[in-house]
Amino acid sequence: MNATDRNSQNLVFPSLSGRVAIVTGAGQGIGRVFAKAFAKSGAIPVIAERNMKNAESVAQEIVADGRQAVAIETDVADPTSIQRMVAAVDARFGRIDVLVNNAGLFSTLEMRSFDQIPLEEWERVLRVNVTGPFLCACAVLPAMKRAKWGRIVNIASAAVPLGRPNYLHYIASKSALQGMTYSMARELGPDGIAVNSLLPGATFTEIERKTVTPQQKERIIGMQCIPRAETPEDLVGTVLFLSSDATGFLTGQSIVVDGGATHR
Ligand SMILES: NC(=O)c1ccc[n+]([C@@H]2O[C@H](COP(=O)([O-])OP(=O)(O)OC[C@H]3O[C@@H](n4cnc5c(N)ncnc54)[C@H](O)[C@@H]3O)[C@@H](O)[C@H]2O)c1
Repeated sequence: MNATDRNSQNLVFPSLSGRVAIVTGAGQGIGRVFAKAFAKSGAIPVIAERNMKNAESVAQEIVADGRQAVAIETDVADPTSIQRMVAAVDARFGRIDVLVNNAGLFSTLEMRSFDQIPLEEWERVLRVNVTGPFLCACAVLPAMKRAKWGRIVNIASAAVPLGRPNYLHYIASKSALQGMTYSMARELGPDGIAVNSLLPGATFTEIERKTVTPQQKERIIGMQCIPRAETPEDLVGTVLFLSSDATGFLTGQSIVVDGGATHR
């Protein structure tokens, strides 16, 4: 067992047992690891994903491990699709405790100077990365307000405070998501719903991507206090913490998990 696995297995939080946690975009990468971590901690992850083949495969992995999971085809850019998913979850479990707004247009993006970004790509990124979390949050509110308990975790990015160049639509979208976190937290505090952002650093998953070249990867690692590549498992402790009873009085915050590359 390596140090990362050991760390994520020894985490102790107030129990998430029986909680229903919707994780959007959990068919691969960071979301996939989140779904597995929720299941391991006793929660029931809902894999709300556009790519149904991947979603089913994550759910099967979890079920094969003796735990519960549900895969529901969802396009976070489409309000009807979100409403259908949320209605199905509420009908089946009668509760929605956690929403992790993780789905995003990210690994498929090409790096380009901002004046070369086609308008339709700009609009698509904002639609999925900003409008998607807004629509998902709207859709889960009735269930969370009914329970007077809820946790919304918005997956933004530590690339925002760095102002990483050459994907301006992405940076703009994650910056908007952070702003939304602050306002949503204020509106929802009286209902017992905490809203926070998690800002991952450059996190290396099973998916190859064009946004970080090998040279950039080395440079990023060189900036970190902990000089090794970040993995999705490094984010697990924070996402579970932000989804738990431990954060009843912690809301409207941004937590950067980037191995100490930046300081806020
Ligand atoms: N990996 C990193 O370095 C990093 C760093 C900071 C933030 N993030 C953020 O973390 C999240 C996950 O990152 P990742 O590396 O796993 O990304 P990824 O691109 O590998 O996975 C994104 C997932 O979202 C799904 N998705 C895309 N559009 C969707 C839609 N309209 N409806 C439903 N699902 C949709 C995809 O099918 C995919 O499963 C993203 O929001 C990303 O911006 C990632």
